[in-house]
Amino acid sequence: MSLLIKNGTIVNDDAMFKSDVLVHDGKIVEIAPSIDPTPGLEVVDATDRFVIPGGIDPHTHMQLPFMGEVAKDDFHRGTEAAVAGGTTMIIDFVIPTKGESLLVAYDRWRGWADPKVVCDYGLSMAITSWGQEIAKEMEMVTKADYGINSFKFFLAYAGVFMVRDEEFYQGMLQCAKLRALARVHAENGAVIAERCEHLLSSGITGPEGHTQSRPEELEAEATFRACTMASQANCPLYVVHVMSKGAAAAIAHHRKKGAVVFGEPIAAGLATDGSHYYNEDWLHAARYVMSPPLSRDPSTPNALMKLLAAGELHLTATDNCTFDCHQKSLGKDDFTKIPNGVNGVEDRMSVVWDKGVHAGIIDPMKFVAVTSTMAAKIFNCYPRKGRIAVGSDADIVVWNANATRTISKDTHHHAIDFNIFEGMQVHGVPETTICRGRIVWADGQLRTVQGAGRFVPLPPDSQIVFSAVDNRGKALEPVKVERAPYVATTLEAPDANA
Ligand code: URP
Ligand code: ZN
Ligand code: ZN
Ligand code: ZN
Repeated sequence: MSLLIKNGTIVNDDAMFKSDVLVHDGKIVEIAPSIDPTPGLEVVDATDRFVIPGGIDPHTHMQLPFMGEVAKDDFHRGTEAAVAGGTTMIIDFVIPTKGESLLVAYDRWRGWADPKVVCDYGLSMAITSWGQEIAKEMEMVTKADYGINSFKFFLAYAGVFMVRDEEFYQGMLQCAKLRALARVHAENGAVIAERCEHLLSSGITGPEGHTQSRPEELEAEATFRACTMASQANCPLYVVHVMSKGAAAAIAHHRKKGAVVFGEPIAAGLATDGSHYYNEDWLHAARYVMSPPLSRDPSTPNALMKLLAAGELHLTATDNCTFDCHQKSLGKDDFTKIPNGVNGVEDRMSVVWDKGVHAGIIDPMKFVAVTSTMAAKIFNCYPRKGRIAVGSDADIVVWNANATRTISKDTHHHAIDFNIFEGMQVHGVPETTICRGRIVWADGQLRTVQGAGRFVPLPPDSQIVFSAVDNRGKALEPVKVERAPYVATTLEAPDANA
């Protein structure tokens, strides 16, 4: 099957140029100023359009069993929403229950995803308990067939997913040994649990209690602590859903010292804020409940976008984990029972374009970097993914920068009955989405096939995570797995004569 994309402007993370793109059997086979269509070739007219690498969302939770409920977007509806929004690959999380074998959980996730995905996907794995057996299984799943190169640790959700600091530290030592990336949900879960009890016993039961139980300081503290422990373990670290300036500052502090730390803001954190938690309508407020809470300071979304522009934060995700109004209402009398999670996978590309490029904060190349290329590099599937280049998978979006659309539950493809971006008018619309050479979204219609997406194994030892120089020439500190011998330093003796 062949496809010709004509007259567009190709945008990669490091270049923009006018060219045609020829696709054959799922791959990009030619890029040239003018390619003549042969008879029978399907032609996509991209005049006045950008031709960009399909979005990669490195953080989703399709059909996640969580807080007694199951997230509504399954791998079918969730990936349909993704491609309708210009995302052609997701990285979802295998999350074993406490004490469960990683291999058993892995098989369950593959069993859910493989028959349902309409676009390609990779997997990251959460470590929710610790022991020698888990360490051994971590080694197994970093092998080729399993395709796992990152492990996520939760410092929140006490009693459910949370690990203790010493478990997190030992887990990161194992990640460093396996040349895998550690990822962290950074909030102080123990203090949050105390605050929840206190708020409930003082009569605060509504969604405002959710944000009051989780002040920014508890995100910033956990982020700083995670970075500190990662540097002690000589392990590269990726902080998921950075939701506050304090957390971003903790990342910047450690990067300045040479640590390899990546920061991921999410669509919800870039395009909406925590004022919704105080809405008079209880259910409206509950829809926004996620952790960490949406910006507790209204200037944060714009600040996070500027940090992406400055390279202090690195890529965008969504944390797509959707619960409908009925599920949200199960926490009517107790905010700690509102299932945590929001939508994003369909709207991320448009809201990042609108709040980033249209707002004049980032350029189209940076947009491609933070929505696609950085994820491909960090998770080690670049340049197969994340680039318009000969030999790359034909995961391509024809992007209309001048068109607008209004986000609404009435037109979205999620399996839930609300959208946290409801009514937002955004500039930047994915007109055509192509997954490995097949048009899956065009003229506002899905043309997907369940199960047509493929699992993309992600091998360890990513160049950008473990090399001294990233491919824009910026020096990264190498991660020294072998520690230099410890040399005791003595504090300067106070001057006796002073
Ligand atoms: O509230 C959230 N973020 N739900 C999904 C699970 C997680 O913490 O990533
Ligand atoms: Zn999380
Ligand atoms: Zn609101
Ligand atoms: Zn998450």
